[in-house]
Amino acid sequence: MPTFQTLPGFREFYPDALAQRNHLFKVWRQTAVTFGFQEYDAPVLEPLDLYRTKSGPEIEQQLFSFTDKGGREVALRPEMTPTVCRLVGEQAATLKRPIKWFSIAEFYRYERMQKGRGRCFFQFNADVFGETGIEAETELIALLIQALCAFGLAEPDFYIRLSDRNLWFYYLEALGLDEPRARAILGAVDKFEKIGDKAFEEYQTQFGALEAVLKERILALLSIKSMASLEALMAPLHNEKVQGRIGEWKRLIGNLTAMGLGGFVEVDLGVVRGLAYYTGFVFEAFDRKGELRALAGGGRYDNLVGKLGYSELPAVGFAIGDMTFALLLEQRGLMPSYVNAPDVYFVLGGEAERMAAFPALQALRASGIRVEYPMRPLAFGKQFKAATESGARFAVIYGQDEVARGTAKLRDLQSREEREIGLGDLVDALRSALRA
Ligand code: HAM
Repeated sequence: MPTFQTLPGFREFYPDALAQRNHLFKVWRQTAVTFGFQEYDAPVLEPLDLYRTKSGPEIEQQLFSFTDKGGREVALRPEMTPTVCRLVGEQAATLKRPIKWFSIAEFYRYERMQKGRGRCFFQFNADVFGETGIEAETELIALLIQALCAFGLAEPDFYIRLSDRNLWFYYLEALGLDEPRARAILGAVDKFEKIGDKAFEEYQTQFGALEAVLKERILALLSIKSMASLEALMAPLHNEKVQGRIGEWKRLIGNLTAMGLGGFVEVDLGVVRGLAYYTGFVFEAFDRKGELRALAGGGRYDNLVGKLGYSELPAVGFAIGDMTFALLLEQRGLMPSYVNAPDVYFVLGGEAERMAAFPALQALRASGIRVEYPMRPLAFGKQFKAATESGARFAVIYGQDEVARGTAKLRDLQSREEREIGLGDLVDALRSALRA
């Protein structure tokens, strides 16, 4: 009878699954390091207030929160961004610029479970602090693309939808909308893809009917898919702020194109991001087939460090989630399957041979070679079977006769070739055999 199950949406990692997870983390870590990012870590449990109002209503509703024994209101972290802002904010005066940091950590959100979404998941977060210009966006979008390509994914597999909350605000302002109205429109844009026209209902309850002409112009920006059509839509406005922003867009896309990454990026003003703190360019990564939920999301958030009570510090960042990403790798046949195999299996005659084998066993393990041996005395036949089943490349056989001669037999388990080696030479012989 089953006893205790995991809580809904929580995950257990059996060794093969953990090997795959470790593979993701290793490649992300290597990629971040090649881009000059430094790794940090922080607590899993945080004051609830860190997320209240800072992350926005969607995340606030999804918090795993409770009151601890000291009467503090706490929450399991649903994301890293407010935490990393605190870390950087605390030491901003002494940190060397540009501040380029990354982390790989687990997060918790009480979400409705669906394909690629759980209640606990890992994210690879990367953020740049202290840069106001599009150089930070360039660095992060390039890192995001490389963090996916490093697994063998390419342009036909995924793309980045690039959008801009500033351009939306400038555009809506040019159309005569004040800030509260513009914010409500952005809320509708965020939901439009999922629920269509219904997305505007909240705006209409708050501010009354949305004029047909205005709605048409909003939908026009929403459906833009290229730089050329974006420029064409903006040109008739003759608005300085809008034109300045279009200049930034061109520089950002120019940078990414020069890096050979232009083909990954699509202009798509339909993305505005639900999190409350984003202030400028925002972006999300999706699989090209459109079968999976977002792989990654991020953007500029210039006010969050200041909102936490520190000196203002501009910032841009993103996070890739492990769940959708693992699904994509599996779909494309790019998730390696791991054979948990030793390098060498020791086959032991009896107690005296076991004692004769122990020095080499220990020396090999100490030099990083993975060695297995039967913990209990076993018949030779069973040991050979175990050696083959283990997937080891070599067996070392400590038979009575060999040990009496001061030797052991080294057998290649694939070619079945065997040779006798002096016990004193075994460690070196195995090292060079494994290198070959
Ligand atoms: P986010 O869009 O909420 O952004 O999450 C980023 C990614 O984490 C998503 O694209 C998805 O892959 C994964 N993710 C989110 N929720 C879940 C879930 N319930 N189950 C599985 N995976 C999930 C942020 O978290 C921002 N803090 C990113 C950021 C960093 N912005 C600036 N710096």
